[in-house]
Amino acid sequence: MRALVKSEHDSLISGLPGFSVVDLFNTGISGDTREELFELARGFHLQYFPESPHAIDEWRHQIETGIAPTRERVHVWLICQDTRPVGIWAVNINIESGVALMLFGAVEKDVRSNLPPSWLRTFLDALIDLCSAECQAADRNLDLVALESEIGLKDRWESAGFALINLPYFEPTAGMHWAKTPDVSFFESNHLFVRSLDPQVSSDSAGIAKRAVNAFVLDHYQLDPSLPQVAMMLSRVQELDN
Ligand SMILES: CC(C)(COP(=O)(O)OP(=O)(O)OC[C@H]1O[C@@H](n2cnc3c(N)ncnc32)[C@H](O)[C@@H]1OP(=O)(O)O)[C@@H](O)C(=O)NCCC(=O)NCCS
Repeated sequence: MRALVKSEHDSLISGLPGFSVVDLFNTGISGDTREELFELARGFHLQYFPESPHAIDEWRHQIETGIAPTRERVHVWLICQDTRPVGIWAVNINIESGVALMLFGAVEKDVRSNLPPSWLRTFLDALIDLCSAECQAADRNLDLVALESEIGLKDRWESAGFALINLPYFEPTAGMHWAKTPDVSFFESNHLFVRSLDPQVSSDSAGIAKRAVNAFVLDHYQLDPSLPQVAMMLSRVQELDN
């Protein structure tokens, strides 16, 4: 893999020496650099998330038109160790709702295996700081981060301050393009993890679960609430208040 040209747009990850991130959608980078970042992001995405190729089309479309698919701000951070690209982390920020959705994240195994287990918390704290700063610049407050993941990673997300929402959760296999498919299909087993950034609000509270489900299901995927799986998710999360 090519070495990435480092630039003033990289953000260093404090606590992980040599690590930095650079955003595909940073408005300050040149077209050539963006193309290079896109190719790298595409390679990582296809390697780790081959079941979700639609995300690549969305990123390409946004590069060409400047238009994000939803009102969220889209970030695709290329992760570098020194000058070597070692992974990606894609995060959409819903500035109005104060919610960041971590959509795809991967780091090469040989890199992770040389890091202490605390690396994930350190890394995610740094990314969350970047997201918080962006919200603050827009006079908003980021107070919730949510992600979908395999249950096998539960301990790792918990080590990074996330809690599992104990509710059924389904994501459309076609992502945001679910409406263009003849029959909407959902992945069979998804799990939602959340981290409240407000020290007064527990990550396992009903309010946090409701906001996270709404942020993914209604605001991000813009699913039809009358679809059976969607209706079930929305009613189950509603019942948490009772
Ligand atoms: C997410 C990620 C960065 C976490 O890295 P990490 O903190 O070093 O954690 P590990 O990868 O070592 O995983 C910890 C445990 O979870 C399990 N696990 C990892 N990925 C899993 C998956 N996709 N499904 C089920 N279990 C998984 C592993 O078996 C591992 O258990 P072990 O220690 O007994 O081997 C890393 O797993 C990764 O890059 N994965 C590839 C992409 C991915 O699956 N991303 C998550 C969805 S967004």
